[in-house]
Amino acid sequence: MTSVPHHAEAGGCPFHQANREGVASPTGCPVSAAAVAFDPFEPPYQLDPAEALRWSREQEPVFYSPKLGYWVVSRYDDIKAIFRDNLTFSPSIALEKITPPSDEALAVLERYGYGMNRTLVNEDEPAHMARRRELLDAFTPEALEAHAPMVRRLVREKLDAIVDRGRADLVAEMFWEVPLTVALHFLGVPEEDMEQLRRFSVAHTLNTWGRPSPDQQVEVAEGVGRFWQYSGQVLEKMQRQTQGKGWMYDMIEKNRQKPDVVTDNYLHSMMMAIIVAAHETTALATANAFRQLLSRPAVWAELCANPELIPAAAEECLRHSGSVVAWRRRATREVTLGGVPIPEDGKILMVTASANHDPSHFENPDELDIYRDNAVDHLTFGYGSHQCMGKNLGRMEMRIFLEEFTRRLPHLELEEQAFTFLPNTSFRGPEAVRVRWDPARNPERRNPAVRTAQRDFPVGAPEARTIVRRVRVTRAEPEAEGVLGVTLADPAGRDLPAWSPGSHLDVVLPSGEARKYSLCGPVESGDWCIAVLNEEAGRGGSRWVHESVREGIEMRVRGPKNHFRLDETARRYLLIAGGIGITPIIAMADRLKSLGKPYELHYAGRSRTSMAFIERLERDHGEALRLYPKDERHRLDLAGLLAEPMNDTLLYACGPERLLTALEAGTTHWPEGSLHVEHFTSEGALLDPTKEHAFEVELTDSELTVEVPPDQTLLQALRTAGIDVPSDCEEGLCGTCEVSVVEGGIDHRDKVLTPAERRGQDRLMSCCSRAKGKTLVLAL
Ligand code: HEM
Ligand code: FES
Repeated sequence: MTSVPHHAEAGGCPFHQANREGVASPTGCPVSAAAVAFDPFEPPYQLDPAEALRWSREQEPVFYSPKLGYWVVSRYDDIKAIFRDNLTFSPSIALEKITPPSDEALAVLERYGYGMNRTLVNEDEPAHMARRRELLDAFTPEALEAHAPMVRRLVREKLDAIVDRGRADLVAEMFWEVPLTVALHFLGVPEEDMEQLRRFSVAHTLNTWGRPSPDQQVEVAEGVGRFWQYSGQVLEKMQRQTQGKGWMYDMIEKNRQKPDVVTDNYLHSMMMAIIVAAHETTALATANAFRQLLSRPAVWAELCANPELIPAAAEECLRHSGSVVAWRRRATREVTLGGVPIPEDGKILMVTASANHDPSHFENPDELDIYRDNAVDHLTFGYGSHQCMGKNLGRMEMRIFLEEFTRRLPHLELEEQAFTFLPNTSFRGPEAVRVRWDPARNPERRNPAVRTAQRDFPVGAPEARTIVRRVRVTRAEPEAEGVLGVTLADPAGRDLPAWSPGSHLDVVLPSGEARKYSLCGPVESGDWCIAVLNEEAGRGGSRWVHESVREGIEMRVRGPKNHFRLDETARRYLLIAGGIGITPIIAMADRLKSLGKPYELHYAGRSRTSMAFIERLERDHGEALRLYPKDERHRLDLAGLLAEPMNDTLLYACGPERLLTALEAGTTHWPEGSLHVEHFTSEGALLDPTKEHAFEVELTDSELTVEVPPDQTLLQALRTAGIDVPSDCEEGLCGTCEVSVVEGGIDHRDKVLTPAERRGQDRLMSCCSRAKGKTLVLAL
């Protein structure tokens, strides 16, 4: 028996609170009262599946549901572990009817010759990957880019039709029809009977993931049977054409070339399943996103003012209120999951909506935060070798909808309404989203150019670097000679997010480039304060700050981010700052003082007049402070300070590179991990194609092999192959793009990993590090 992340003793039953009825799971384990009561077709789950499973996330993350006959899993790590291992957890039941069909319904389906079988999403290995690899070409960034003008045109036509009206149900007007038309275009399927197709797909959803009553079962089976027949007819028509364009034609062609890989039954089953997979998911996701954003007018206003955030906002909506909320797997052998034994053939419902609200992975998970930088880790698209192939098309559609609406109807409001949902376990989105606006206030009435002034976004996961916040300067005054202190606030007067010592902001310059500046506190004030040294020999960022930043202006920043986190568990601390490196160190000193921890602060600089914060430091940290102004001939004696290694002491340092290098050299006899330094630049991360060699990466979770040419970083190559790896600095400084390495020699180029971590050869920073040899095997 193998086990995946567990929360109780493996093998045994972790939950002994037998319910009054004495219900037991198939393994004999007593089922708790909450598990007995769980019913995904009841309102709590239908209205908000993540909330309905809060009790499970907190108390019983894997439980048997007698009503469903499934093992329900609710935590992020457990669900990701299931997605990772598609041999132990087979996807074969992904499209099985969750409610066993009645005899009458079966008879109806038989009458239509219904034979839905294996597609991609419910196919086991090795057949699945052989097929998926054959069909990937339509999803490269370039191939998808070519669909953007069509999506734009469709959204614009629909918006033109309502823009002067003042009221609309966006689902009825466009959220269904546009994704359906896009899906048909993408597949190459003729756009006929759109309304009929919509009814068919509702029947398919109810048939597969719903609990239709005995009467409804027959009606639903009629719809599904006709959908099956219709798909067959369309397929035949397409098979007769030789010149068609679209993903379905790619499949037809592969079926001719490799009938054992892309089989006949696959073609017919896929024809039906894909119309739903490609359009209903996206339609519901868009409806969820508009509902969530518009029900928070301040967030909607922020998005209208700062449209760069649209990709991040769409991703956050997919996390917070995804359109696929649960997915299924079957245990192919006995296995322990979260400490709970699951028998062979046990059916598993992974509630991905619950995973997306797991506080162990997402901070303040119930908040819709369009600045969240790890939203892309959500499981709404699944994960691993079956991860949604169409995710980047879905993302593109959501972004274009949001971009058109925030630009043309920023004054859009949600009407008072009760939202309703089609009752089923897996697909979720409101059946209507009714909105209103005052057409007299439409910006395009004053400026017709607004109608077409579009903004495009690159295909793929949003990059953390696009998450930019507008802030207002409330103070800009000299802090010392050549050092400008700047205090920032939210332009709308809201609280800015809290930060911790060691955090920095990326200040975005008018050129689009960014510079990192540490927040210098005090932390308790909640203020964002930075201090910027005017560096004559610098790259121009600090000069711009000194020349242009004044009280009252708006600036654009990313963060706060913390790559220099203070470990608060040590007994003692040595803080060392050189020049403007005092900025993160002073915030750490404040924190250590408030924690009552012993610390020394050594601060070196040119002269007292050029050293920032001296007054504040003398006032707040007088006893711990040692100042070394060079012009007073006080020199920091590093060799003396570091001579005796101290087991109970951590060192934190920031300053010029030569100070950091000297510290690294001077602490080699200290316990490993004692020294923590903050780097602001990293030369190692610059790619020089003339000095690089190509290599190959094998991805174990996705079962793909990706080529990394000399002129691409590993991160870029992974993204081109459709693998979402979060990134931020892309210079080897932050650790965001870390991936686990299973095998192969690593050429480390980052400034994040410690020497011990490097020796472990089990992880790398994909934005800069490469393979030493010809191949690397990654757990991705
Ligand atoms: C698979 C969600 C849009 C095509 C999946 C899976 C989910 C999903 C949860 C199963 C993943 C797994 O088992 O790991 C979504 C959502 C979408 C969306 C939330 C929109 C917001 C699309 C679009 C297309 C598409 C637009 C087609 C153009 C597929 C295909 C698979 C799939 C072909 C099967 C992949 C495989 O098993 O190898 N999707 N999907 N999806 N999706 Fe999507
Ligand atoms: Fe920051 Fe790679 S993205 S280390």
